[in-house]
Amino acid sequence: MGSFKQTQTTPYTDQKPGTSGLRKRVSVFQQENYLENFVQSVFSTLPQLIGGKIVLGGDGRYLNNHAIQIILRIASANGVAEVLLGQDGILSTPACSHLIRKHGCNGGFVLSASHNPAGENGDFGIKFNVENGGPAGTSITDAIFEFSKSISSYKINEGQIDTSLIGTQKLEGMTVTVIDPVADFADLMESLFDFNAIRSLLASGFTLAFDAMHAVTGPYAKTIFGTRLGLPLENLLNAVPLPDFGGGHPDPNPVYAKSLFDLMYGLQSPDFGAASDGDGDRYIVLGSKFYVSPSDSLAIIAANAHLTPGYKDGITGVARSMPTSRAADMVAEHLKIPSFETPTGWKYFGNLLETGQITICGEESAGTSSDHIREKDGLWAILMWLNIIAVRKQSVEDITRQHWKQFGRHYYTRHDYEAVKKSKAEAVMNTLRESLPDLTGQQLLGETVKNADSFNYIDPVDGSVAKNQGLRVFFESGARFVMRLSGTGTEGATLRLYLESYVGPDGNHNLDLAQATSALAQIADELTHLKKTVNRDRPTVIS
Ligand code: G1P
Ligand code: ZN
Repeated sequence: MGSFKQTQTTPYTDQKPGTSGLRKRVSVFQQENYLENFVQSVFSTLPQLIGGKIVLGGDGRYLNNHAIQIILRIASANGVAEVLLGQDGILSTPACSHLIRKHGCNGGFVLSASHNPAGENGDFGIKFNVENGGPAGTSITDAIFEFSKSISSYKINEGQIDTSLIGTQKLEGMTVTVIDPVADFADLMESLFDFNAIRSLLASGFTLAFDAMHAVTGPYAKTIFGTRLGLPLENLLNAVPLPDFGGGHPDPNPVYAKSLFDLMYGLQSPDFGAASDGDGDRYIVLGSKFYVSPSDSLAIIAANAHLTPGYKDGITGVARSMPTSRAADMVAEHLKIPSFETPTGWKYFGNLLETGQITICGEESAGTSSDHIREKDGLWAILMWLNIIAVRKQSVEDITRQHWKQFGRHYYTRHDYEAVKKSKAEAVMNTLRESLPDLTGQQLLGETVKNADSFNYIDPVDGSVAKNQGLRVFFESGARFVMRLSGTGTEGATLRLYLESYVGPDGNHNLDLAQATSALAQIADELTHLKKTVNRDRPTVIS
């Protein structure tokens, strides 16, 4: 440690982590000392990492390998004792969370910009997770940001690690242990789910297609579905991770996972289709010619988890992010367990998971997970579905329709207006915010406003407050819409409009989704002049 170099640097003003880590264009990260400044800010903010043990890996996107070497050299100079490094610099977000917990590490870095496009002209990102395996909370990320604004030097050692070589190497005084990125995670999955039952299901002629979207889950899927569950490898699509994700946009939704949707709605559609995102924390599930919305999937998983070995004693509670449909709340009510509504972003589930108040949580943005780790977990959710199907011996569609028969259906859709002018997006939000006090009682296109507010959250565990986490308009019919600005975009602003209408158990569950939510979209537009203000005639993405 004695020989490190103290390198002078000048601060950047924009290193504020968003909903999920620091996420910027590759060209931003390529600026002189940009990555170095941020990484040093993490080590300077968290003295517990000195002499400690951390996990390191990423989703394999462009800059991954370069960033791995830089972080190793800075970690070594800052006195980190040991790093667990995924082979070839690869680790999915859920696998990283698991490794931190399993090996009692002090934290870990995941290099990813999730589902954002990769490659030289794409995005890069860096997330720091704390010792419970979950994303650092805002008190930590704020402190890192504060430090980054006045950083004047960073510590760095010389040296290089061969990331392909499983085993132990040294970088100055620091031990670097290169590990198989998949094995521990696959073992964890095998401990939670009935792999024998799933293997039998797959052997019985039940067909499955999984799309890894050329991102990190390829190797995980090969081991879990292929080696351990006996699925022929030709059922794994785009399973080779590429630095530019094959030019795609690995966000598993109807727009970006179009080829999977085409397959699932085609003539010879498999019984089950699934996909994951860039870093493996998101997922979608489809049946033959049938798509399960992530909000419904969360509710169905909560209602059926007790059928799987890892959750056979039931679940303690559920949580969902505020914009996620309220389908999971109804399951909680039925199970007589608490349900929580948190701001958008996985970090807000952390305290509830830590204190055992919830077992399962999820977001409408295709993230669901449980207390087995402290991140969302795409493959976990997919295996959960497979295990439930193996037990219930019903199709994805039948399970979902039965769920609606019992709890009613929350028609749910999200309209994203991406890369709009920041000032315009803010103007839309302001228009709605200013109108909130006058909305109650107003009649709009057959709906009556019940109440409207800006969502504030008080963490029930530590009392911390998160204000203005989205604007909500509720209607007497049980419908609502929510509007908020994304905290993960890298270009202009992304405005998200979340639409939800409800029909009870005896209602019509066969409406066209767009039709069932079109009045709400129209109301939102009339109240905010959204389309006119951002100068778009339709959303960029509807999911
Ligand atoms: C988006 C999703 C949110 C998720 C986050 C990180 O954040 O909406 O649910 O936790 O990505 O994956 P947003 O861009 O809306 O701030
Ligand atoms: Zn992700």
